[in-house]
Amino acid sequence: MSLFDIADLSPAEIIEILDRAEAYAGKRTDELAEKTVATLFFENSTRTRLSFELAATRLGSEVVSFTPESSSAAKGESLRDTIQTVGALGVDLLIIRHRNVGVAEMANRWTGLPVINAGDGRRAHPTQTLLDLLTMRRRFGTVAGLSVAIVGDIANSRVARGMLDALPRLGSRVTLVGPSTFLPEPSPWSASVSRDLDSVVAGADVVYMLRVQKERGATAAYPSDASYSRRFGLTEERASLMKPGAVVMHPGPINRGVEIASSVADGERSLILDQVRNGVPVRMAVMASEVGERH
Ligand code: CP
Repeated sequence: MSLFDIADLSPAEIIEILDRAEAYAGKRTDELAEKTVATLFFENSTRTRLSFELAATRLGSEVVSFTPESSSAAKGESLRDTIQTVGALGVDLLIIRHRNVGVAEMANRWTGLPVINAGDGRRAHPTQTLLDLLTMRRRFGTVAGLSVAIVGDIANSRVARGMLDALPRLGSRVTLVGPSTFLPEPSPWSASVSRDLDSVVAGADVVYMLRVQKERGATAAYPSDASYSRRFGLTEERASLMKPGAVVMHPGPINRGVEIASSVADGERSLILDQVRNGVPVRMAVMASEVGERH
């Protein structure tokens, strides 16, 4: 089995992975002893890559790590040859991040190996969605009935797409807020749309701030970081409008002072480091499901 997109999982399958992740938190097992996991990150990453590698190690797996800059891809080796070469080394699972949509599916076809998509372009980042759901569930007990505001660079965000798929299916209400350049109307998504961040922030249980994806040209979509922050950033003043018990999330990495003020990112409502922590047991649960039960 592979995992390409959160949309491939039913609500029951999502809940099963979250339950399994709860059981893995802080644990080590030998479920993937004798297995080898390969991470291939053609786009930069800190938290996803390291948490997949830690998760694989905590399941007892061997881990090999491919980085394009120091590989024969830098000599011009094609994507297909690179992926087939890693597959031929005798690995059991590929974890792939690439700027192009669909590379995980192609890798699966080229090698016949299970593949977990660790982020492809603007489309999907399913394990991020799962760790975000686990983080919400741990705080609120359930995601059903939560009011979630997703704010910012929606157009470029695979994280937003994952949430927009999963949250309504699990019973949450989603409101999108962003400038028209990041959130055109009519919105193609089944969520409410607002340009009034103050009122949305005041009513939300979860304020999920998105990174402005400068590497995808997002800065051309607004006049300046300062004006973006004033209108669509979670400033300290705006965060003070939040309800008691409401929380702030962000997938990271953060542009401090642009989409979120440092004091809010580091403040008591912030679950940003909980999101990072939850990445390890979630990825253990996903890998154990994809590989452990196949053989
Ligand atoms: N959230 C996320 O995918 O972070 P990295 O790019 O550091 O992996």
